[in-house]
Amino acid sequence: MKNYKIAVIPGDGIGIEVMNEGIKVLNTLSKLNKDIAFNFDWYDWGCEYYLKHGKMMDEDGLEKLKKYDAILLGAVGFPGVPDHISLRDLLLKIRQGFNQYINLRPIKLLTAQDCPLKNKKVEDIDMVFVRENTEGEYAGVGGFQREGTKDEVALQTSVFTRKTTEKVMEYAFQLAKSRKKLNKVTSVTKSNALNYSMVFWDRIFKEKSNVYTDIKTESFHVDATSMYMLQRPESFDVVVASNLFGDILTDLGATLQGGLGFAAGANINPEREYPSMFEPVHGSAPEIAGKGLANPIAMIWTAKMMLDFLGHEDLGERIMKSIVEALNNREKLTPDLGGSGTTNEVGDRICKIIENIG
Ligand code: NAI
Ligand code: MG
Repeated sequence: MKNYKIAVIPGDGIGIEVMNEGIKVLNTLSKLNKDIAFNFDWYDWGCEYYLKHGKMMDEDGLEKLKKYDAILLGAVGFPGVPDHISLRDLLLKIRQGFNQYINLRPIKLLTAQDCPLKNKKVEDIDMVFVRENTEGEYAGVGGFQREGTKDEVALQTSVFTRKTTEKVMEYAFQLAKSRKKLNKVTSVTKSNALNYSMVFWDRIFKEKSNVYTDIKTESFHVDATSMYMLQRPESFDVVVASNLFGDILTDLGATLQGGLGFAAGANINPEREYPSMFEPVHGSAPEIAGKGLANPIAMIWTAKMMLDFLGHEDLGERIMKSIVEALNNREKLTPDLGGSGTTNEVGDRICKIIENIG
């Protein structure tokens, strides 16, 4: 019997709504499977907490989170708290503090009709982004000078370390090997303009491709990558990108899948020195929050990624099958997918299907 301790941070807006559905699915699985149990501890950190306490999370928040097997996060950010505070003081603090240097984001089409591109089959859209997650453009290095004056200067410096860049690329090559799809890694660069950071990035990529000679490689500038993702998505397998480029391109990728309501993600510390954190790609969507309109599939898929990471791929597979089956009844889906179902109803249906497929 495996009893997992999971820290739950629903966060803000639709983060709270979709989290309920993710937990519902995990509880359904543990009810059906006596070998696995979850102990959830909820943390009400986020923007509301900030407005009450002047901070996004407890000062000893990381210390508190250390003892868990994994962290599940909904989304953070809400009008009234500047986005750079909500993001940096909670999300990035955990990603960086727990050295979750891999951000894994699968882009996989589940039903052809959800793809906005014409004539695409489900197998045409099946790639995984390996995004560097602790440094790069989001390192938080910079400052203002002569703030508020007409001579003001703002600086934001990217940080690329050899250690992390090498590990991220290695992870991507290993993943390409294990996926056995196209045996290919695509590197996203912009070394024509970013003549230090991205020249360095390209150099490390070349070094690693010389080691993994059985894996094909290609390297495109980020602007061209965004074009190819639309023109020929079937040519991508594993894509390795810096923090900023990966962030931008995975929203584009989410659109290929049918929208942010499908986009799952994992912040991974591969060495398992710290807990990894599982969170969907989307934000707190304040304009639809509290109305039961949010699509919970991204969060449920994210829970599947947590199960995979904990070594329960069989249960993860069951979740995926149930999501795919739920997609057959379009009317019962949330409005982003053209249905009239609520967040809660979609979660309930997926749980029912999980129970039925046993
Ligand atoms: P967003 O992802 O919240 O929303 C973008 C668009 O997608 C909106 O039209 C929204 O309604 C829709 N959408 C997103 N998730 C959906 C779902 N599950 N079902 C149906 N529709 C969905 O991004 P936006 O608007 O840029 O940011 C809103 C807030 O979220 C900001 O405060 C931002 O800082 C924060 N944010 C937080 C993230 C996180 O916690 N990881 C990631 C991205 C944004
Ligand atoms: Mg993003």
